[in-house]
Amino acid sequence: MTDTHCHLNDDKFSMDVEEVIKRAIDGGVKRMVVVGYDKISSEKALELSSKYDEIYASVGLHPYEAETYRSEDLKHIESLCLENKVVAIGEIGLDYYRGPENRDKQKALFIDQIEIAKMMRKPVILHVRDAFKDTFDIVKNYDLKFVFHSFSFGPKEMKYILTYENLFVSFSGMITFLKYVRDAAKISPINRTLVETDSPYLTPHPLRGRRNEPSFVKYILKTLSEVWGLDFESCERITDENASRFMDFD
Ligand code: NI
Repeated sequence: MTDTHCHLNDDKFSMDVEEVIKRAIDGGVKRMVVVGYDKISSEKALELSSKYDEIYASVGLHPYEAETYRSEDLKHIESLCLENKVVAIGEIGLDYYRGPENRDKQKALFIDQIEIAKMMRKPVILHVRDAFKDTFDIVKNYDLKFVFHSFSFGPKEMKYILTYENLFVSFSGMITFLKYVRDAAKISPINRTLVETDSPYLTPHPLRGRRNEPSFVKYILKTLSEVWGLDFESCERITDENASRFMDFD
């Protein structure tokens, strides 16, 4: 199993991160991608990746940083990309949930980081909230791989994903408790679908209410295998191969 998006760099894991990682590895999770969202969390992701063979890092500035980042923060992200275990840029993107005030700033930060990804030849992990169309219109112009992390849309948006070979989708715990996400998963491209926990957030059914962790990725895989009508092992193999095609783990 590959947890393609988790935040072991979050404070909620500060007390027991080693045990959490051990539980994941013992439970069959072969790879975990720890995803940054600002300067400090990106550095922390890299630090964790240097301690464990199974951990990889992604670095980037989340759209929430659009108001406060400085240009040297972008240079910093660029320099982190040179490290061996940085496998992606992200999570970056557009988040319109909090209102329209800073949309232009978000777009500028987003595009600057896509340009870094292009230069560094890294795939991009997208955070997209209430901004599917604007995001799609930007990413479709790039010859780069993108993943819509924690896919939170329905079949209508999934049909757009189907039209571009470079676009991947990743399912989180939402697939276990939202029917429209399962409906989208039914038509998700089988060779471009990943799974993730987004831990400590979005805990899957039947463990909702608890802190999420990478070992719970099996519940997401189980739901996906049911939606696809495949056995668990096939679904695990397919999503592992997809993750390897999306990111370079070697
Ligand atoms: Ni995340």
